[in-house]
Amino acid sequence: MANVAVIGAQWGDEGKGKIVDWLSERADVVVRFQGGHNAGHTLVVDNTTYKLSLLPSGIVRQGKLSIIGNGVVVDPVAFLSEIDRLRAQGVAIAPDTLRVAENCCLILPLHAELDQARERARGDAKIGTTGRGIGPAYEDKTARRAIRLCDLADPDALARKVDELLLHHNALRRGYGEPELAADQVVAPLMELAPRLLPYAEAVWQRLSELRRQGRRILFEGAQGAMLDIDHGTYPYVTSSNTVAGQAAAGAGIGPSSVGFVLGITKAYTTRVGSGPFPTELHDEIGRGLGERGHEFGTVTGRARRCGWFDAVLVRQAIKVGGIDGLALTKLDVLDGMERLKVCTAYRHHGHTLHHLPAGVTAQAGVTPVYEEMEGWSESTRGARSFADLPAAAVKYVKRLEELVEAPAALLSTSPDRQDTILMRDPFAD
Ligand code: IMP
Repeated sequence: MANVAVIGAQWGDEGKGKIVDWLSERADVVVRFQGGHNAGHTLVVDNTTYKLSLLPSGIVRQGKLSIIGNGVVVDPVAFLSEIDRLRAQGVAIAPDTLRVAENCCLILPLHAELDQARERARGDAKIGTTGRGIGPAYEDKTARRAIRLCDLADPDALARKVDELLLHHNALRRGYGEPELAADQVVAPLMELAPRLLPYAEAVWQRLSELRRQGRRILFEGAQGAMLDIDHGTYPYVTSSNTVAGQAAAGAGIGPSSVGFVLGITKAYTTRVGSGPFPTELHDEIGRGLGERGHEFGTVTGRARRCGWFDAVLVRQAIKVGGIDGLALTKLDVLDGMERLKVCTAYRHHGHTLHHLPAGVTAQAGVTPVYEEMEGWSESTRGARSFADLPAAAVKYVKRLEELVEAPAALLSTSPDRQDTILMRDPFAD
């Protein structure tokens, strides 16, 4: 029986939370392997809405083990407050059902401050980050000066590491006109939180290895999307981690062959938050209509998402770089009632036809989409639970997308409710 990795095939917000929650019924363990609390996953369970940022989506289900892998950057304050918020909604969370890799790097307030100071300094050229300190935290990780969860159990090492960290950060803070920090301003809050954090810490690679030996089913939950990947996305308008399925192994401490079936999530149209190229973006009534019907506002920041037609070129690229085996198509119902639909099948750039998004920032901004038009449908697809319930034009649309992106649909989601899901191919059975 395969494990499954769920990753976004666009620019995030594809509806991964619902799909992970739906699949987690069949899994024993749900693992986050990259990103941090920049992610926003909305789950609707029995009419209750849960908003998750950092915790794995399996957390709302009883009897599942949730794991935050070493590839995640963890903000201790955000971690504890998300636990408190979910507990207030009646979700049982304890260290025996939630484990955090002891070697994961921490996001500190100085990271969020730097993230925001940089964005302010960039002005119109800003990336449009979530302002949560994700980028600066990953920079410190790569530069080998990050504070890790395990350091909270070793106050002497922590003090030394904070001194080294501040040598770097205070220089930057001076440059941005921010007040410098004394070591105790960083150490004291961490030591205060340590007794609440350390019970969750563990060598999760060991736990995962044991779970594998026992034949437990593991679900790897990606955040953001392939086009926000630090290597494969629309750089520099990307997040600071690898979001593709290959990261599931490194970011959890498990071999690549254990990742199993890779399920890519894509909306039936396209959205993006923050700045950066977006070839099929619509600046008209049609785009605004998609945003309104699709409730396209960020879970984390509340920002309005940019909306546009489905871009088959981008999704096909995400499928190739992400090793996606099958797709979950979400929000088909948002297209209900639209007379004509467009799908981008290629780009034009300086008189040439391109079948991929080029890497250069100027070229990415300069491509224009080549569209294929399709008939829409007037019937509602909302809440459909079988492929046979879909109008013929909707079936044709799904089939055409499969052809264009060169991957089969495994699931269709027809409303935020977990029951409104059409299974075409069981990812766990592969
Ligand atoms: P950061 O991850 O906060 O550094 O933001 C970098 C880019 O990724 C910005 O364009 C954000 O809007 C985008 N981003 C980060 N997390 C998410 C997400 O969960 N969904 C959609 N976009 C995201």
